Amino acid sequence: MRRITILGGILVLLLLVLAGGAGLRQTTAAPDDVVVTVTGTAARAIIQYDITISNKGTAAISDIYVAGLISSGAKFDSVVTTPAGATSLGAQGNVVAWLLNRVPAGGSATLSYKLNAPDGSAPVNAYVAWKAPTAGSASSAAITRELAVDNGAAKRGCMACHYSVTLARESERGGPNHPKIANEATVDVCLGCHKAAADRTGLAPKMLRTIVHAAHLNSDSFITRYKGNCFTCHEISETGAWLLLYDKVHGNQYNVPAAESINAKGYASSGRPIIDVKP
Ligand code: HEC
Ligand code: HEC
Ligand code: HEC
Repeated sequence: MRRITILGGILVLLLLVLAGGAGLRQTTAAPDDVVVTVTGTAARAIIQYDITISNKGTAAISDIYVAGLISSGAKFDSVVTTPAGATSLGAQGNVVAWLLNRVPAGGSATLSYKLNAPDGSAPVNAYVAWKAPTAGSASSAAITRELAVDNGAAKRGCMACHYSVTLARESERGGPNHPKIANEATVDVCLGCHKAAADRTGLAPKMLRTIVHAAHLNSDSFITRYKGNCFTCHEISETGAWLLLYDKVHGNQYNVPAAESINAKGYASSGRPIIDVKP
């Protein structure tokens, strides 16, 4: 129990009441190897929580009780994913629960549920307890509603998408002869060679706009998976200039920016200017 966060502790207490001595109290030899995480993705007021149990140890754990919190202010919506070997118990008091046979050594399991979680509802976490090989338990960090909204929001700004497949990685599509670009390069670096200019002497043969407009707006992945459109990369200034969004924009689920996020002068929340593409 020592490893459980304060919120988890509250959940554990509630669970102990619910579990009514079903063995969850034994906490001896809880392997540090079982890691529980929760991610949340909002679509309007409905948030899907995915609980992942990763067994990084050398022995399978079995006879597992899994619970995701129905946080205060939120209401149960539905159980989304019950993997093979698991039985859904549905909503039980202030948790959504499952019984899971086992998670093999090196394996993982994901269980998902949805809550109707309006503005102001409290953070959510998950709790897992197992009986074998020795009884143990673990709980996840808490995830706030704001984080889940940000996760599920429309993506705006290059960095909303190109954080693991970086712009430098994308430049490799320029072929084996493309100049080597440092992984942390921002779009300003690309524009150094791919900027707009009628005379391209000394510059890359194509403007960045020529490359990215077609490559994104004709991409199934950009259009369908990310629901991408012009305003994924642009904001229009008060004078009608097309501004380029580089940093990830934070806002509501449509990513209308938070008041402080893009101000009238066109600055992103990080303080980095968003780029005015007018010369
Ligand atoms: C909403 C997500 C998203 C955002 C935001 C985004 N991209 Fe992309 N980008 C993609 C996806 C998806 C692809 C892969 C397209 C394909 O091959 O289907 C891609 C591909 C690329 C490529 C490779 C093009 C090629 O020739 O194949 C470049 C370069 C690129 N992006 C640059 C940018 C720049 C610069 C920005 C910001 C101005 C940006 N992207 C914003 C999702 C995004
Ligand atoms: C030092 C100059 C330079 C920089 C900086 C640069 N590029 Fe390039 N890029 C080129 C040149 C030159 C080509 C043409 C390569 C060729 O045809 O062999 C090219 C081609 C490309 C292509 C292929 C376009 C096509 O024809 O389909 C992509 C995509 C690309 N660059 C993306 C990027 C991105 C993204 C960045 C920033 C991370 C970037 N480049 C930075 C010089 C540069
Ligand atoms: C993937 C990101 C991305 C998307 C999506 C995108 N653009 Fe762009 N756009 C760019 C980049 C990059 C530039 C070049 C910036 C520069 O040269 O400084 C650009 C430049 C422009 C410019 C030139 C502005 C000027 O003053 O020179 C216009 C106009 C424009 N885009 C319109 C659109 C429209 C309309 C759409 C939707 C149909 C769209 N863009 C979608 C990335 C994007």
